[in-house]
Amino acid sequence: MANIKYDISDISSLIPEGEMALGKDSLEKAKDTLVSKSGAGSDFLGWRDILGDPNDALLTDIIQTSETIREKADVLVCIGIGGSYLGSKAVLDALLPNFGNNGTEVIFLGHHLGGTYIKQLLAYLEGKEVYVNVISKSGTTLEPSVSFRIMMDWLKFNYPNPHERVIATTDPSKGALNLLIDDHGWKKYVIPPDVGGRFSVLTPVGLVPLAIGGIDVRSLFYGAVSAFEDYENGSDESSDKYALYRYLFHEQGYKIEALAHFEPSLHSIGGWWQQLFAESEGKDGKGVFPVCLQYTTDLHSVGQYLQEGQRTIFETFLVVNQAPSEDVEVPHSAQNLEGLNYTAGRSISYINDKAYLATRLAHKEGGVPVASIELANQSAETIGQMIYFFERAVALSAYMIGVNPFDQPGVEAYKKESS
Ligand code: PA5
Repeated sequence: MANIKYDISDISSLIPEGEMALGKDSLEKAKDTLVSKSGAGSDFLGWRDILGDPNDALLTDIIQTSETIREKADVLVCIGIGGSYLGSKAVLDALLPNFGNNGTEVIFLGHHLGGTYIKQLLAYLEGKEVYVNVISKSGTTLEPSVSFRIMMDWLKFNYPNPHERVIATTDPSKGALNLLIDDHGWKKYVIPPDVGGRFSVLTPVGLVPLAIGGIDVRSLFYGAVSAFEDYENGSDESSDKYALYRYLFHEQGYKIEALAHFEPSLHSIGGWWQQLFAESEGKDGKGVFPVCLQYTTDLHSVGQYLQEGQRTIFETFLVVNQAPSEDVEVPHSAQNLEGLNYTAGRSISYINDKAYLATRLAHKEGGVPVASIELANQSAETIGQMIYFFERAVALSAYMIGVNPFDQPGVEAYKKESS
């Protein structure tokens, strides 16, 4: 597998030999801990097991169910928050057209408490064929639970057989949703108990809405499987290297990692990545704060800080090497009032690439450690590989800094306070 590369050419010289030796030692220990299932949270390693032993029958069931729903549904309302929505949003945004996708539209709900959003969504759904996928491991999380109540009332008001339109994705047996599933006979998918929310995109949590939204989930899933195999047998060390450098910068006192991209459709990948790293590492007073930046947009806002602010940020560019399949050229202007005729005839992606190289150089010269994760293309297979690249990396980097990668006591604290 060479669809993902981690380019360290601009950072390898920033680490003194002694620190590197200690880092490599720590990485080896973290790998042993992960593979031998001997570390903190080791009963939450199901996200690896599902790739080591793929469940084809489940994939087939998801694809068949989704095809049936796609034939009937204008809209799938996908209700969930945190790990129960960020992954599917990330993959949909990365792989579907920006505008006017054919087929069932997936709309997210239950990921905030915006009453206006909900009211306007219900108005938008009027007259449409609507199905609902409610996703909650606990079945009691505030935001999705109240949204689902509202959505159920709406379904009951609008359709004679509302329960035929509901898919519930939840724990195998625990939680409030299971009681309702039994009562109403909803189609049920299971969140494996040993997979935490932020690691669940390759379970039915992500795969069901993705398949209904039109994503080739088999390619996505098997992309991740191929990454899993390559990292396990050591033929590809890119994920491990990323974990190593994050750890080394953490130890040098860097506080923030900016994951910067130049492709708008990758921005939700950044949202998923933020949760994965913040919830996994940010505990016991440790961890690097993850923030996703969309360039060139954010060069006109936080770009100033990156260039000249506190030197506590390292930057990882997430770039796609293959030229986009759809692009446009800048036209020539006879008046040339803004003096930009030097761009005439150039494609926007060519200019975007130049902006990337210029930004990388400027930030490097400004004293920011810069590396890049390069995706060969933006296909389902490569995005699947990238998901596992980050999942493995965060497990390793969290073990390296000495925290449990798989719990989230801070999130539980918010849930408790708001109940
Ligand atoms: O990663 C996590 O554990 C959280 O982000 C949860 O996914 C989120 O809080 C939603 O929880 P639940 O699926 O129980 O509704």
